[in-house]
Amino acid sequence: MTSVLKVVLLGEAGTGKTCLISKFTAGIFNSESISSLSAQFITKTIQVNNESIKFDIWDTAGQEKYRSLAKIFYKDAKAICLCYDITSRKSFEELKDYWYEQQTKLNVDGQPIFAVVGNKIDLFSQQQVKDEEGKEFAKKINAIFQVTSAKSNVGINELFENIGMKFLDPNYDPNKTESQEKMEYEQKKMDKKHQKENSQHDQNKGVKLQAGKKHKKKGFC
Ligand code: GTP
Repeated sequence: MTSVLKVVLLGEAGTGKTCLISKFTAGIFNSESISSLSAQFITKTIQVNNESIKFDIWDTAGQEKYRSLAKIFYKDAKAICLCYDITSRKSFEELKDYWYEQQTKLNVDGQPIFAVVGNKIDLFSQQQVKDEEGKEFAKKINAIFQVTSAKSNVGINELFENIGMKFLDPNYDPNKTESQEKMEYEQKKMDKKHQKENSQHDQNKGVKLQAGKKHKKKGFC
């Protein structure tokens, strides 16, 4: 059986969304890729953990004048790739301040899988956004983090494989909201703390008992 997963790529114009998709689906890099005018979708099926996943990948236009259109496409997405260009701080700031914020307001049908994607890693000598910053943001929003290069074919297969793996994870529930996830996380933390306290308590008890035993033995002698 093949699972279908709708993925949408979002981010500023020029971050390389179209190029990432064409590299992944057709193995082609276009150094003269022109700005997208609307949204288009293309499919690719891959095997992840021996399961077949068909990605319906939506490429959206990053230009400001087309931004409102993107909302129509990412509304029911199961996975969202938030793309920035590692050589452009502006693209990273916009990602946090606009793209992520926008989609959290609208994606009311559940919690999609997020991936923060730092593209153009082949241009590392011009890097303006450190990997650590991307990682930190990804951690904050519970997202996959991946650096990529559509030009040098770095990290793209890994990106889609990781999305697929998260999708297949039995603990992953697409209908879970962000606040539910946070509550479960806090609950797990509290459970762990209690477990630790209980085992500490048992250990102390053990030490006391042992100490008591020794004392008794002494008395017999
Ligand atoms: P919009 O459609 O306007 O939203 O842009 P986009 O995000 O789809 O960017 P696009 O894929 O059209 O790429 C923009 C430019 O960046 C093009 O000139 C690409 O050749 C270049 N580019 C894309 N990916 C890479 C990459 O990994 N490395 C380098 N060096 N250039 C890249």
